[in-house]
Amino acid sequence: MVIPNDIKDSSLAEQGVKRIEWAERDMLVLRKIRERFDTEKPLAGIKVAACLHVTSETANLVRTIKAGGAEVRLCASNPLSTQDDVAAALVHNYGISTFAIRSEDTDTYYNHIESCLEFDPSITHDDGADLVTTLHQKYADTKAKNIWASMEETTTGVIRLKALEKDGRLLFPVFSINDAKTKHLFDNRYGTGQSSIDGIIRATNRLLAGSIFVVAGYGWCGRGVAKRAKGMGAQVSVTEVNPVKALEARMDGFEVMTMFEAAKIGDFFITATGDINVIRVEHFELMKDGVIVCNTGHFNVELDISGLEKTAIEIKRDSRPLVDQYIMPTGKSVFVLAQGRLVNLAMAEGHPAAVMDMSFALQALTAEFVVKKKGDFLHKVHNVPESIDKWVAEIKLETMGVTIDILTDEQREYLASWTLGT
Ligand code: NAI
Repeated sequence: MVIPNDIKDSSLAEQGVKRIEWAERDMLVLRKIRERFDTEKPLAGIKVAACLHVTSETANLVRTIKAGGAEVRLCASNPLSTQDDVAAALVHNYGISTFAIRSEDTDTYYNHIESCLEFDPSITHDDGADLVTTLHQKYADTKAKNIWASMEETTTGVIRLKALEKDGRLLFPVFSINDAKTKHLFDNRYGTGQSSIDGIIRATNRLLAGSIFVVAGYGWCGRGVAKRAKGMGAQVSVTEVNPVKALEARMDGFEVMTMFEAAKIGDFFITATGDINVIRVEHFELMKDGVIVCNTGHFNVELDISGLEKTAIEIKRDSRPLVDQYIMPTGKSVFVLAQGRLVNLAMAEGHPAAVMDMSFALQALTAEFVVKKKGDFLHKVHNVPESIDKWVAEIKLETMGVTIDILTDEQREYLASWTLGT
């Protein structure tokens, strides 16, 4: 039976399988969940729609959900992050309806979200809240009413959903995967840290050692990138708008300055803020010749690309794949990676599987939790239960062969006496 799908090239399936299996080697927590799901079928009969980056790691998540007995549809959460071979393998080897083509245009991107919603899911997984936003905008009185709960993967998505909740317009419960400790402390920090540097290097093959590397935003992602860039021998400067984060950056040993100051000296610039127009024309105009500028925040809004397009006297597309050269009126060139979209997913392969293992274990276990509770939650943004977060940390340590001390009875009593205030 041919399952509904829209992918680039079915002949890539064999390569996709190899990639999915390679990722699975580092996703031992998720594998453990899949093996249990396979026998217990906790998601039997549930329809699940997932709007996530279509990568080898996501493939292992949707395989797990399917093993739990659910019928799954998957679409992309970013037009540039799809791995076409993985999409082909999902359809042809794993029987999972997938709607994603790398570099799809905006209409196709939203058509794919529609295809995912067509079968009236009751659980959704989102990365950036595009699927949930579509449900709110177009299906408030129909499909949205069938949703038991949605799981949201990233910081920006959670911010969008909390805004809906604040306005009293959130139509169903949402679980913030991002706020779980085993998510943002690892995925945002170590995952984004490594994969963003990986994206910059694959895109440019420039040497980081000895360069001045500017990171905008010292949140979980920004601090991961800053640390890795420093480790590669770059001199790292941080820009911030939050005084506490700025202070942390300074005391972690980084230069802290305004974007105006940084623009004059940087060789590499990366935004990781979730904010809009962090690097603007007035900054681009100050930059040195040949600088590399990119973004690793969720949406392609952190760099003012349209302002840059209007200001540049010439634009040369694809100096290298997805590297655009903007020649400024001064004759200096600014190179922008991946059109300002997520550099780690567009230019490299996104986060390593070992870190997505935890994020996606949380996704799978929270879906199971929602089904167990039959979706009986308030229409709010909820945290993942602490017991799930703790279990993921414990099993991750186990798979890494790490054992930790256990509290003695005496220690437990001593600590409890403090919490009781005696
Ligand atoms: P966060 O909230 O921990 O950090 C954002 C930081 O940016 C904050 O410290 C904030 O003060 C700062 N900031 C805001 N506006 C700024 C401005 N104009 N200039 C300088 N700093 C500014 O958020 P987190 O978790 O680090 O996420 C950042 C972005 O990265 C979000 O859009 C998130 O969705 C995305 N993300 C991307 C991933 C990837 O694979 N590339 C993975 C995880 C998250």
